Amino acid sequence: MVETTWTKIDEVLSGKKTNQEVNIRGWIYRTRSSGSIVFTVIRDSSGVLQATIKKGNLPDKEFEDAKKALIESSVELTGTVKEDNRAPGGFELQVTKVNIIHFAEPFPIAKDHSPEFLLDNRHLWLRSQKLTSVLKIRSTIVGAIHKFFRDRGYYEFEAPVLQPNQCEGGSTLFEVKYYDNKIYLSQSWQLYAEAGIFSLEKIYNMGPTFRAERSKTSRHLSEFWMAEMEAAWMNLHDVTEVAKDEVRFILKEVLKHNKKELTILGQDIKKLEKISEKKFPTITYTEALDILREKEKMDVTWGKDLRTNEEERLMKHFDTPVVVTNYPVEIMAFYKPRDPKDPKTALCFDMIAPEGYGEIVGGSERSLDIEDMTKRLKAMGEKIENYEWYFDLRRYGSVPHSGYGLGVERVVAWICGLDNIKDAIPFPRTLLRFRP
Ligand code: 4AD
Ligand code: MG
Repeated sequence: MVETTWTKIDEVLSGKKTNQEVNIRGWIYRTRSSGSIVFTVIRDSSGVLQATIKKGNLPDKEFEDAKKALIESSVELTGTVKEDNRAPGGFELQVTKVNIIHFAEPFPIAKDHSPEFLLDNRHLWLRSQKLTSVLKIRSTIVGAIHKFFRDRGYYEFEAPVLQPNQCEGGSTLFEVKYYDNKIYLSQSWQLYAEAGIFSLEKIYNMGPTFRAERSKTSRHLSEFWMAEMEAAWMNLHDVTEVAKDEVRFILKEVLKHNKKELTILGQDIKKLEKISEKKFPTITYTEALDILREKEKMDVTWGKDLRTNEEERLMKHFDTPVVVTNYPVEIMAFYKPRDPKDPKTALCFDMIAPEGYGEIVGGSERSLDIEDMTKRLKAMGEKIENYEWYFDLRRYGSVPHSGYGLGVERVVAWICGLDNIKDAIPFPRTLLRFRP
C-alpha cells in the first residue's frame, strides 16, 4: 500500500503546489453551500485554505457528506491547487475526494461572545486564529530565551517548585499542604539559583511561578512563567545589559519567524523593528520621578513604588523599553542590597515596556550582608532558621552576584499587542479563574 503524503496548507499558499494534486487534512474553519457547490475554508496548524467542492467532481456520497459537515469537523481532502486571487491567500483547492474523519456537533463558539464565555470555552477557543498566532509567537519567545542563554554559556538549572521560604514577600504566597507541613509554591527560582552559581557561575531557568495576586489587572496572573538568570561576579550594570540584550534578541527572533502572526494580530511590525534596533535607556527611580513631576505635572512622593498609572505616564516619554534602577530600599525585597553611593536606594532594576505593558523584567544585585537581611526578614515576621541555608552562601566563598527574572507572558502580551495578559498563556489562572 502506498502511504498518503500530506501537504501543509502553508506549502500550498507558498505557490509550490500550483496545478498539482495534493492531500490536505485539517478542520473546517468556515463552510457554506449553495445547491451543487460547497465552499469551505479548511485550516491546519500552518494556515487556512479555500476549498471548492462541486457535485459531479467526486462521488455523490462524499459531496453530501461535505454539505452536511459543520464547522470544526475534521476532514481529509484531495484536490488540485489552482491560483485564484479571489480566495484568501490567493489559492484554492478544487476538491475530488472528501473523507470526513469526524462530523462535529454544532460548535458552541460563533461570533460576538463575551470574554468570559471565551474563557469558559478556552479548550475550544484555542483553535481561533488569534490564539493560534499568539501561541506560535509564544513558542518563538520561549525558544529564543533558551537560545539566548545557552549561546552565551549559561547552564540550565532547576529549583524546587515546592519551597519552604518566601522570596518576594509573604502576601502573594500560595500555601500547599505538604504531608504534615505547610509550604509554598515557588514565587521565584532565585534563592536556589544563588546556591547554583558557586559551581556553575552563569545559570538560567524558565518555569511556572506562582503569585496569589489579589488584584484583577490586565497584567497579573496567579500562575505565570518566569525566565530567570543568575550569575556570579556580575554587578547591577552587567545584568541590566544582559536583560536589554535578551529582550532585543527575543524581539528579533519574533520578527524573523512570526511576521505572518504579527500581521494577523494587527501588530505594527515597523514599530517593533525599530525597537529591536535601538539602545534601551537606563534611568534611576529618582530621575523617573523628575520626569513625572516636570513633564507630566504629577504629584509623586519619593519612596512609593511606581504603580500602573505612573509607569504608563513615564513611558509616554520613551518608545523603547526602559531600565529603571535604584528604587527606594524600603519597598524592596529583603535580598536587594543598599547602594553604597546612595544608601536610601537599592542596587536593583525593573525594565518597563512601552505602551502600558508595565514591568517586564525585575532584578538586582544580591545582598551579601547577613545582618541586614536578618533585620529585614525579622521585620516581615519571617523565621530566620528557614534562611540559614541561604546565609551559608555568604559564609563559604561569598562572591558578588546578580540576576533577574523576565515575565514571559508580559513579554508575549507586549510583543503581540494584547489587551489582556490572559491571552498570553493557553489556560490562564487568575484570582477569579482556574477552569477549565
Ligand atoms: O519582579 P519580580 O517579582 O522579581 C522576582 O521574582 C525576582 N526574584 C527575579 C529574579 O531576580 N530572579 O518578578 C519578575 C518578573 C516581573 O518583572 C514581571 O514581568 C513578572 O515577573 N511577573 C508577573 N507576570 C505575570 N503575573 C504576575 N503576577 C507577575 N508577577 C511578576
Ligand atoms: Mg518586580
